[in-house]
Amino acid sequence: MTVTFKDAAGIEGMRLAGRLAAEVLDHLTPYVRPGITTNELDQLAHDYIVNVQQAIPAPLHYDPSGHNPYPKSICTSVNAVICHGIPNDKPLKKGDTLNIDITVIKNGWHGDTSRMFHVGEVSVAAKRLSAITYEAMWKGIEIVRPGVRLGDIGHVIQRHAEAAGYSVVREFCGHGIGQKFHEDPQILHYGKPGTGMEIKAGMVFTIEPMINQGKRDIREMGDGWTIVTKDRSLSAQWEHTVLCTETGYEIMTLSAGSPPPPAFVAPALPA
Ligand code: MF3
Ligand code: CO
Ligand code: CO
Repeated sequence: MTVTFKDAAGIEGMRLAGRLAAEVLDHLTPYVRPGITTNELDQLAHDYIVNVQQAIPAPLHYDPSGHNPYPKSICTSVNAVICHGIPNDKPLKKGDTLNIDITVIKNGWHGDTSRMFHVGEVSVAAKRLSAITYEAMWKGIEIVRPGVRLGDIGHVIQRHAEAAGYSVVREFCGHGIGQKFHEDPQILHYGKPGTGMEIKAGMVFTIEPMINQGKRDIREMGDGWTIVTKDRSLSAQWEHTVLCTETGYEIMTLSAGSPPPPAFVAPALPA
């Protein structure tokens, strides 16, 4: 297990990469409408990252297993897709919900963030799932400070999701991040208070709960990437990249278009 600790230069690098990743989501937001395809969103994101931001889309050709490179620049996970949905030529339609997950590399540093999007008007049930998942991510973020354990983070996320009648995906988790896309430690979105590694100032990691409306079980599709709910119920996900500071946390992946924190979150202490 190798956890990296970021010094002042690393934190600056992560702040820039994180903001750029969030700004890709801002750029895509007005395009997410009925009729657009996820391939068109992928192309818009790719061009913006490469030409405007002069950065690199980390997913493109990403190949952690060594035999199935990811073919696109972003992940678009629609309705029952939990994560790693590959953009395609199917137009989005009114009532769809999707997660768009962006990871950029800038000056060697990674920023990783995702948001839920609603295509036109969506069902009350879909809106509730997105909202509870957003709150669950923030339940994890708001307790980040030195000495908190990873099991504490998992626990508050799991408790919030399950109290709402939902389930937490177990097979995918948050992760340390820095000059590598996926670093130690793994950040599970379920767990027991007082267990797991203690977090320390200088650690940067993602919190990215995947919450299902139905059962937690997953299925991998034949493309080797796309993960769906086994019962085909809706799934939602939100993701931020977070720094543990001496006094609390700093979110690396904020931009002008980031939704505000839920009302239960106290303002972060200055670092
Ligand atoms: N962005 C995802 C995460 O949050 C990872 C996507 S890997 C890809 O960790 F290859 F599918 F892009
Ligand atoms: Co991530
Ligand atoms: Co991501």
